[in-house]
Amino acid sequence: MSPTICLIPGDGIGQEVIPETARVLAHLCPHIHFTQAEAGWETFLRQGTALPEATIQAVARADATLFGATQSPTDGPVQGYKSPILELRRRFHLYANLRPTHALLPHHPAVDLLIVRENSEGLYIRDEESDGETAVACRRITRRASQRIARVAFWHARARGGRNGRPPRVTIIHKANVLPLTDGLFRSAALEAAEDFPDIQVEELLVDAAAMWLVKGPARFDVLVAPNLYGDILSDLAAGLTGGLGLAPSANVGDNGVAVFEPVHGSAPDIAGQGVANPTAALLSGAMALDHLGRVEEARRLRIAIYAALQSGPLPADLDGDASTIEFTETVIHAL
Ligand code: NAI
Ligand code: MG
Repeated sequence: MSPTICLIPGDGIGQEVIPETARVLAHLCPHIHFTQAEAGWETFLRQGTALPEATIQAVARADATLFGATQSPTDGPVQGYKSPILELRRRFHLYANLRPTHALLPHHPAVDLLIVRENSEGLYIRDEESDGETAVACRRITRRASQRIARVAFWHARARGGRNGRPPRVTIIHKANVLPLTDGLFRSAALEAAEDFPDIQVEELLVDAAAMWLVKGPARFDVLVAPNLYGDILSDLAAGLTGGLGLAPSANVGDNGVAVFEPVHGSAPDIAGQGVANPTAALLSGAMALDHLGRVEEARRLRIAIYAALQSGPLPADLDGDASTIEFTETVIHAL
């Protein structure tokens, strides 16, 4: 049966990069069926909800979802508004956020790493309170979720088979020296999970040291596993090493078959509507979706075409070129 991909462009440049990604996927796999669904700030203004029930149903029915980005309200919290991507992660138990970083451009450090970010708890449970003078955020870490995300990291390390001639390795990221109860639990749970993977090397790094090493010697990393906020921050840093957010894809996965693929970037209001967004992050997210659908050969061909387009140019504006979103996509399709 032909697979179904649900498209949720969202706001801002999501409306530019997701249709272009769908165009490339349709070219590559003509039998893929696409459905369209809405989410985001514009949807909230029209419908009073940022994630309509119809969208949730469309995600549940699809074999994979491609999500662009949504815009948050700019002037603080708005009654009734919830971040659609956080809601989708919660609803569908998408507890693992996979954020690969590869060196794609010449003259960039030799990076080939995967950040496995815990996606269901940490500081992102959005439990904050304030009396106006003191504000407190609650951070939840559980042994169950920490072991679960660590196992995902070990599986991926095993599947990747090591990097740069070295055996597979997982780096556990934490700050247990300052937060012995929360980060300490994350650390010990991840080390417990490691016992089932004797073939994988394990190391641990404090998150601040990890940030330094990502800049100074990123080639030392293979797979990193981190609590939610650290994983979010370190993956943007890793993206910056290889050319920026325009190049960084991600996947949100769990155990029930639902999977949501999204560029790491947001709605980029500073460039939205100009047709200059770099579609590479969305295209690489599309390649991750193809892998998920078992279309491994098509995913490989797409990545090769993206690499070829980045070598040949013309490059998009964030890479100091003058190609529009559509022109760059055309180069990728030509390379295919
Ligand atoms: P952003 O990722 O939208 O933009 C950061 C900078 O990177 C901007 O200068 C932007 O122009 C540039 N950039 C990002 N993607 C690009 C691309 N594909 N091509 C060229 N340049 C690109 O992050 P920012 O500005 O912090 O957030 C903007 C809005 O997006 C906010 O409302 C934020 O809440 C939302 N956001 C949504 C996410 C999601 O839906 N998953 C994720 C991150 C942010
Ligand atoms: Mg982020």
